[in-house]
Amino acid sequence: MSPIKSPKSHHIASQAILCFILIFFSAEQLWCATILSPSSSKDIIIQARRPQSTLVLKVTNKDELASLRVATAQNRSGDFQVIDALARHEKDGIYYIHYTLPLKRGKNTFVISPGRLELKIRYKPVRTLLNIDFEAPEAFLFHRKSIIPKECSLCHSDKLPDDAGLDVERLKKNADYSPSCFSCHRKLHSKNKWLHGPTANIYCMSCHRKGTGNTKITMLTGRVDETCFQCHINKTKFRDQKHVHGPVGTGDCTICHDPHGDDYKFQLWADGKSDLCVGCHGDKKRAIKNSVGFYPHGIVQGGGCVACHSPHATAYRFQLYKPINELCISCHLNLADVEKGHPVGNHPLKGKDDPRRKGRALSCTSCHNPHGSNYRFLLIGDILGGHVCSMCHNDG
Ligand code: HEC
Ligand code: HEC
Ligand code: HEC
Ligand code: HEC
Ligand code: HEC
Ligand code: HEC
Ligand code: HEC
Ligand code: HEC
Ligand code: HEC
Ligand code: HEC
Repeated sequence: MSPIKSPKSHHIASQAILCFILIFFSAEQLWCATILSPSSSKDIIIQARRPQSTLVLKVTNKDELASLRVATAQNRSGDFQVIDALARHEKDGIYYIHYTLPLKRGKNTFVISPGRLELKIRYKPVRTLLNIDFEAPEAFLFHRKSIIPKECSLCHSDKLPDDAGLDVERLKKNADYSPSCFSCHRKLHSKNKWLHGPTANIYCMSCHRKGTGNTKITMLTGRVDETCFQCHINKTKFRDQKHVHGPVGTGDCTICHDPHGDDYKFQLWADGKSDLCVGCHGDKKRAIKNSVGFYPHGIVQGGGCVACHSPHATAYRFQLYKPINELCISCHLNLADVEKGHPVGNHPLKGKDDPRRKGRALSCTSCHNPHGSNYRFLLIGDILGGHVCSMCHNDG
């Protein structure tokens, strides 16, 4: 039987019996904490973008609270990490303790004590949830009808908390307004500095939808950009451009933009000018910081990568905003309209083949690295000793 489908009642019942036996045979106070979420089954697979999961424990006996502890299982050197509770919430004398479990790729074991109750989670990071089959049994999804615990609704309701600071009267005119999501997913809303319009207004259902099968809440699956293009219709033009950035071409908008919000402008996970880019293009990291013996191109530390490249798509190779020479002379005005005469005499700047790079035309980047160089003037070699010149003129 798959671990996800195993009936909870069985587990809870056996634990209750064990509790009962222990109470019966010992005079001490006893553990009776139950896992409400993510699952009372011992082994589950969680597929998510973020390496974390919400754990909610139910404790019926107030005296247990003092000794209750959640920790990772000991590793080989005997180390373990105690996980602090986010909060304890009480309803009718029963306590619901919330935690955020940190997950690492692969096997994670958590121990809840006293009693050494174990929870085993296999974490599979996914690039996007939209690649998951929401109906596939191996995917653990909280909003699956067979998983979602009824007790959560004792406290989590449709009512927005008073401190949410939102104009409910205005928001509720929109059919996608979904306040029930807010009480559990508030962090998507309040933690992020830059919120995406529809998320700021809690129009969750403009992208998520009610499931038809086994899943209560789902979303459009397939290519992520289809979700975005529903509203950002003008962005479909990315697809018609000749040179499309890798992840944009595969439709992975959410690899850079969080559909809810994030720490940086345009809901990006790092500053979009450069930090975001070098997060994937690690070899360009040198260009954005000062290091001894390296000459970065001044503009990379000013306007950043996006001074020259579009993060999405353009008509020119490398998603440049202009053909190379036009791009360079738009700032280096002294070379504007110069077809010949730099760096020496009548030296051509274009209109010839680049002897150094097969299949490419001579341009500014034939001699200069646009990002930075170990040599002065961003040159591809040392000007002293004629090293630059000899890369193309091997006659000496
Ligand atoms: C603009 C569309 C859009 C809106 C609006 C939106 N979501 Fe999402 N949401 C997505 C997409 C797309 C994903 C999957 C992201 C991925 O994996 O690529 C997602 C994923 C999630 C996840 C999984 C965790 C994560 O961050 O990947 C949660 C939880 C979630 N949404 C809750 C909400 C809630 C609550 C709201 C309303 C406050 C909301 N969403 C509004 C598009 C949206
Ligand atoms: C006894 C009341 C109560 C019950 C029952 C309860 N919760 Fe909560 N939960 C709360 C309160 C109160 C908050 C804090 C809300 C806020 O910050 O606005 C909270 C916060 C959360 C959060 C956000 C945690 C964070 O990272 O800030 C999640 C997720 C959550 N609950 C999930 C659940 C789930 C899943 C269940 C059912 C298994 C559940 N809760 C049952 C009262 C409860
Ligand atoms: C009772 C609390 C609660 C409420 C209410 C709630 N969620 Fe969730 N949701 C969770 C938890 C817990 C997870 C699992 C991720 C985690 O552990 O943080 C989750 C996961 C998700 C995911 C990821 C896919 C999945 O099913 O695991 C999406 C998408 C999502 N929620 C959207 C929504 C939307 C949209 C609403 C409102 C219609 C909503 N949620 C209401 C607690 C809640
Ligand atoms: C339900 C409609 C809707 C969907 C779907 C949607 N957006 Fe948006 N988006 C908006 C609105 C409204 C704004 C705010 C526009 C404004 O303030 O000018 C916005 C703003 C943005 C911005 C900031 C633009 C700016 O100039 O500040 C980015 C980036 C963005 N969306 C990306 C995405 C991505 C990526 C997706 C798909 C995951 C997506 N959007 C899906 C409605 C939507
Ligand atoms: C490689 C990362 C990356 C990917 C993938 C990406 N974007 Fe962007 N996006 C950016 C950056 C960086 C900016 C800010 C641009 C700037 O500062 O010039 C931006 C800006 C935006 C804006 C606001 C400015 C504008 O041009 O209107 C929108 C809307 C947007 N992106 C939508 C999308 C959509 C839709 C997709 C998927 C088809 C997508 N993005 C994919 C990085 C990305
Ligand atoms: C999420 C990872 C990611 C981020 C962030 C990212 N890129 Fe890329 N980039 C790629 C991938 C994948 C390719 C395609 C690689 C290939 O085809 O070899 C690519 C290709 C490129 C290329 C073309 C390379 C070539 O040889 O044709 C340029 C230029 C580029 N990216 C610039 C940028 C800039 C500028 C930014 C920041 C705005 C950025 N990238 C952010 C993943 C990323
Ligand atoms: C001054 C304009 C300019 C800036 C700023 C700039 N680039 Fe480039 N980039 C270019 C040009 C021009 C090319 C084409 C080089 C060639 O002709 O081979 C290029 C090529 C690339 C390529 C593909 C070839 C290679 O060298 O790997 C990547 C990837 C790239 N840039 C990423 C970045 C990143 C990341 C940043 C920010 C750290 C950045 N660029 C900043 C102009 C620029
Ligand atoms: C958006 C404006 C901009 C663009 C486009 C641009 N540059 Fe620059 N460039 C600068 C700035 C700013 C500096 C730093 C000037 C300084 O330090 O005095 C610089 C410096 C240089 C230097 C070093 C000058 C010195 O005295 O050390 C060279 C060489 C250079 N750029 C070549 C290029 C080439 C080749 C291109 C096209 C691939 C290009 N630039 C595109 C703005 C730009
Ligand atoms: C054939 C190789 C070659 C080509 C092509 C070339 N350069 Fe240069 N460039 C050099 C050399 C060599 C120097 C150093 C000159 C010196 O020592 O005075 C230099 C110096 C520079 C400088 C810094 C000194 C100054 O004049 O301000 C800038 C800026 C510059 N080049 C921009 C460009 C631009 C823009 C292009 C394309 C329009 C270009 N270069 C094409 C070889 C080249
Ligand atoms: C990236 C390759 C490249 C580099 C590096 C290079 N050149 Fe050239 N050079 C060329 C090409 C291509 C021509 C045009 C040849 C033709 O007309 O067929 C040329 C032409 C010349 C000419 C003849 C110009 C005329 O009057 O017609 C001279 C002189 C020259 N280069 C000197 C130099 C010197 C000095 C350096 C070093 C500072 C240098 N080149 C670096 C590619 C390069």
